Amino acid sequence: MEKVRIDPDIRRAATLPARVYRDPEAFALQRERLFPRAWHLVGDAALLREPGDRMPVTLLPGALDEPLLLARGKDGRVRLLSNVCTHRGNVLVTEPGRGQDIRCRYHGRRFGLDGKFLSMPEFAEAVGFPSRSDDLPEVPLGEWGRFLLGSLAPEVAAEKLLEPIRARAGFVPLEKLAFDPKGARDYEVAANWALYLDNYLEGFHIPYVHASLNEALDYAAYATELSEWGVVQVGVAAAGEPAFDLPAGHPDVGKRIGAYYFWLFPTTMFNVYPWGISVNVVQPLAHDRTRVSFLPYVLDPLKRGVGAGSGLDRVEREDEQVVESVQRGVRSRLYDRGRYSPTRETGVHHFHRLLVRGMGMEG
Ligand code: FES
Ligand SMILES: [Fe+2]
Repeated sequence: MEKVRIDPDIRRAATLPARVYRDPEAFALQRERLFPRAWHLVGDAALLREPGDRMPVTLLPGALDEPLLLARGKDGRVRLLSNVCTHRGNVLVTEPGRGQDIRCRYHGRRFGLDGKFLSMPEFAEAVGFPSRSDDLPEVPLGEWGRFLLGSLAPEVAAEKLLEPIRARAGFVPLEKLAFDPKGARDYEVAANWALYLDNYLEGFHIPYVHASLNEALDYAAYATELSEWGVVQVGVAAAGEPAFDLPAGHPDVGKRIGAYYFWLFPTTMFNVYPWGISVNVVQPLAHDRTRVSFLPYVLDPLKRGVGAGSGLDRVEREDEQVVESVQRGVRSRLYDRGRYSPTRETGVHHFHRLLVRGMGMEG
């Protein structure tokens, strides 16, 4: 695929070429080069309460189908392991459950909860067996409290990725959040995942697309901050709208913050509101199809119906409409690239630079 140059100077840069959004070949490059080296949300440690608890997980169903397994060991530690038997490749765990060890249903090989090979029938005569290659490979795991992220071959340490969220949202008592399964929703969007993110990464469209959200936020004070591997958007609450009670020493003390929108490259978003957190997970399905999961974690149910964190379903539908419209637009023969607003689209510009680099298309 042809190289792409996104000028580091936003004032001069042109946006991502339309072909990156519409071309299955670009999606194939992302699957092959970008997703395996990035971090993705894999689960909630609170679902693995006791040693022996395990659950099968996939980093990105359809786009990064690596069978993995989260397991809490006897030492209390949660590990992310390969879910593929080291004998002849059977998938080991297919349902969440609990047990002393992990046993393959094909020929009875057993592994510890730490992935170490334990036993195997009919192998007494095998030479040089067992060896370390008979253990289940362990996959790097990152943790923001209970929220677990995994990466097959990380390009960056999880700690680096999580630094901005620890600094800004470290005060949120994550262990007290109650997951609300009834409020959880999956949205199917007929658009490229990167278009969904382009839209997520700017507040520029809020006054045009989201009438109600626009009333809850102070648009003039809306701020976007970049970190090496992410973006945080800080939504200042409009007068009379709910805001965080920030602890002493917090970088935003003195401001009335109604929402923090954290994006962790490339697929994870934590939208932090006074009522709790809406975790959004972007799952790229095809070059023109994306699933987005909304997972609500509630701290204060009374605040859920007000402010920037309310009416999320309506806001999502408004976003979907515009993103799907852009997907149709990028198929035009008369459109290729645009320009960035230097004041309002720094997050989008940053994402595009990371994306092009991650695909190995940097020109
Ligand atoms: S594939 Fe697991 S024991 Fe044979
Ligand atoms: Fe939006």
